[in-house]
Amino acid sequence: MNTKTKLLNKYFNSCIFNASGVKDITLKELEILAGSNSGAIVMKTCTIEPREGNHNPRCVSTPLGLIQSMGWPNLGYKKYIEFAKKIKEKTTKPIIASVGGFSIEDYKTIVEAFQKSDVDFIEISLSCPNLEGHSQIGYDFDETEKLLSQLINLGKKPIGLKLPAYLDSALQEKMVEIIKKYKISFITCINSLGNSLIIDSKSEKPLIKPKKGRGGLSGDYIKPIALGNVQGFYNLLKNKVFIFGVGGIKTGEDVFEFLLAGANAVQIGTTFEKEGPSCFQRIEKELVEILQKKNYKNVQEVIGKLKFL
Ligand code: FUM
Repeated sequence: MNTKTKLLNKYFNSCIFNASGVKDITLKELEILAGSNSGAIVMKTCTIEPREGNHNPRCVSTPLGLIQSMGWPNLGYKKYIEFAKKIKEKTTKPIIASVGGFSIEDYKTIVEAFQKSDVDFIEISLSCPNLEGHSQIGYDFDETEKLLSQLINLGKKPIGLKLPAYLDSALQEKMVEIIKKYKISFITCINSLGNSLIIDSKSEKPLIKPKKGRGGLSGDYIKPIALGNVQGFYNLLKNKVFIFGVGGIKTGEDVFEFLLAGANAVQIGTTFEKEGPSCFQRIEKELVEILQKKNYKNVQEVIGKLKFL
């Protein structure tokens, strides 16, 4: 039994892989992912110019997850085009580029370049919560449309969206109209929950420095929100758009729940940060055990099959 899956014409040997933003900035880190059981290689969100990112401390773990405000530290998109070429020489795993920008022109330049590169999929980040003065585009439907209208015809590689959490179904419905209009191939939901604050009562300080301590929350804290978002989008998209579920996945049982809610594959962020690349093999093994115990033949049989009360 395996957990293989397929998106358009690309095979993923496992439906479990890394989420953008964790140990995926340098070539060395991407090579470690290539050598691990991660079913794909998702690269750090990149911008036109290299960025140092926000001030430290900017990422702090807690028993229930982590809070971070990284601020898109990355080596600039040209490096990720080089890295994808090098990695493709050694692996057949799908490579997913993650694109960030501070203007429509930025996004256009980067997407155009990735369309001519060795990456297999292009994920557009609409949801980084950690950039002072730049709000999450995914909450502004007019801006999202303006952006996508400029990106969607730049080449043939499938385009996906990294979405923020939507806490009302009406907002998901609006986003789905856009997803359908621009023929988006996949969505990744959810990004970390922005504007969260964790306070250390002893020191009377927040855990992280940027944005007066407010940053993206991930891990156990957000799993029910992520599951609800996956299910909401699955119901609206009716299996026509691939869904990567992400948010608080630590075990094979968590993956099983995301599949039931409608995810076609899942991404691991906080657990990869805390446990390292061995997490992919462990979680896949746990998932396989559950599938076998429940007599499922493959992951496809589980997707969207949540039973209702
Ligand atoms: O701050 C960051 O680099 C996080 C990016 C994201 O959440 O997309």
